[in-house]
Amino acid sequence: MNIAVLPGDGIGPEIIEQAVRVLERLRAKGLQLEFAYADVGGTAYERHGHPLPAATLELASRADAVLFGSVGDPRFDTLERALRPEQAILGLRKNLGLFANLRPAILYPELAQASSLKAEVVSGLDILIVRELTGDIYFGQPRGRRSAPDGAFAGADEGFDTMRYSRPEIERIAHLAFQSARKRKAAGHAGRVTSVDKANVLETSQFWRDVVTEVHAGYADIELEHMYVDNAAMQLVRAPKKFDVVVTGNLFGDILSDEASMLTGSIGMLPSASLGEGGRGLYEPSHGSAPDIAGRGLANPLATILSAAMMLRYSLGQAQAAQDIEQAVRQVLRQGLRTADIAEPSASSVGTAQMGDAVVAALG
Ligand code: IPM
Ligand code: MG
Repeated sequence: MNIAVLPGDGIGPEIIEQAVRVLERLRAKGLQLEFAYADVGGTAYERHGHPLPAATLELASRADAVLFGSVGDPRFDTLERALRPEQAILGLRKNLGLFANLRPAILYPELAQASSLKAEVVSGLDILIVRELTGDIYFGQPRGRRSAPDGAFAGADEGFDTMRYSRPEIERIAHLAFQSARKRKAAGHAGRVTSVDKANVLETSQFWRDVVTEVHAGYADIELEHMYVDNAAMQLVRAPKKFDVVVTGNLFGDILSDEASMLTGSIGMLPSASLGEGGRGLYEPSHGSAPDIAGRGLANPLATILSAAMMLRYSLGQAQAAQDIEQAVRQVLRQGLRTADIAEPSASSVGTAQMGDAVVAALG
């Protein structure tokens, strides 16, 4: 199984190193894994003049799965948009057809105190955010700057983007959400999909709501509820355990998944899988490149390690190995190991490599 490893910028290389060590431990125990590295993001721009060099895209396209660190570096924020580090991840998602982003927000019981919410509000939390990843205002054309063609400020400079969703794009993500809810129901979850939109204001959202409702007709065993995004943002911190599967568009999903991550104690705990047709996938932590702590060995590698577990499960057909990693992560948390982001205020914490060491050790 060939894995393209793209460490990227900021803390990316540090957290990826630990995830690869964990995978190497599994390889030593018999799993057939090959790693091939490539530059991406600001690092790639510096070395090759582009955040997503052709060679990187090709390596990622040929691989069975992509393990991705993070991109983003304030030094490149003033470049023209096409050359900024973020374009690398957007380009990979688009070019590889990775339309579905699964972001599970699970609270490990040991971390109930690390959440900014009261322990009783979050204890036992296990929700799945399904974010559409290749459409919406992220990619909609036209976009740009121009002289405002009409309105009270006609003739003034303006910036504009286009929010749009086509029927097939909504249908495929809705199917995936209902199927995920079905699988989760078999494992004891509520069997409910909450579709999040802004149908009280946006045409795109009303269309989204109509299509999701149509698709739901094929899933009588699954409950569907619709919720406006502002209300969803509120409910997520008021009563997060009422959610099971949340399905939403690219922009709302970006925002809500960051919010959901904090329920679990830290964004440093939240893995993600970005899936296309036929098992192809890219796996990355939900957090960014954290330039403020980059290179200092402080970052929490668990979101990336858990993303590697998702990779084994969704793209490589290795459910047992995935469970072994998740088990090992639980064990180190039970042992009391904490990186700074999940440590209690005055408690001591470990660094990135020590956390990686502990997970490797827990794998036996
Ligand atoms: C994420 C990130 C990206 C996004 C950025 C880095 C382009 O915030 O994966 O959530 O907005 O999708
Ligand atoms: Mg985001």
